[in-house]
Amino acid sequence: MIFDPWPKETKEDLFDFDEELNTIIKALRDPSVRLIIIKGLRRTGKSSILR
Ligand SMILES: Nc1ncnc2c1ncn2[C@@H]1O[C@H](COP(=O)(O)OP(=O)(O)O)[C@@H](O)[C@H]1O
Ligand SMILES: [Mg+2]
Repeated sequence: MIFDPWPKETKEDLFDFDEELNTIIKALRDPSVRLIIIKGLRRTGKSSILR
């Protein structure tokens, strides 16, 4: 559901985050990456993309 107040939990519910999601997945698979930081203003989808 698009208009609920909670972080999204599925890829299908995420809007326009394909590039960001691919960047995170690539970093997760890269053994040389030691730390991933997701930063941004509140309510811009950080928890959603993390989940
Ligand atoms: N790209 C997005 N696609 C779908 N819903 C989003 C997106 N970005 C934010 N939202 C919605 O906005 C609200 C705040 O998102 P949330 O992930 O909690 O942000 P943050 O953790 O950055 O504060 C939630 O209702 C979330 O579902
Ligand atoms: Mg959050």
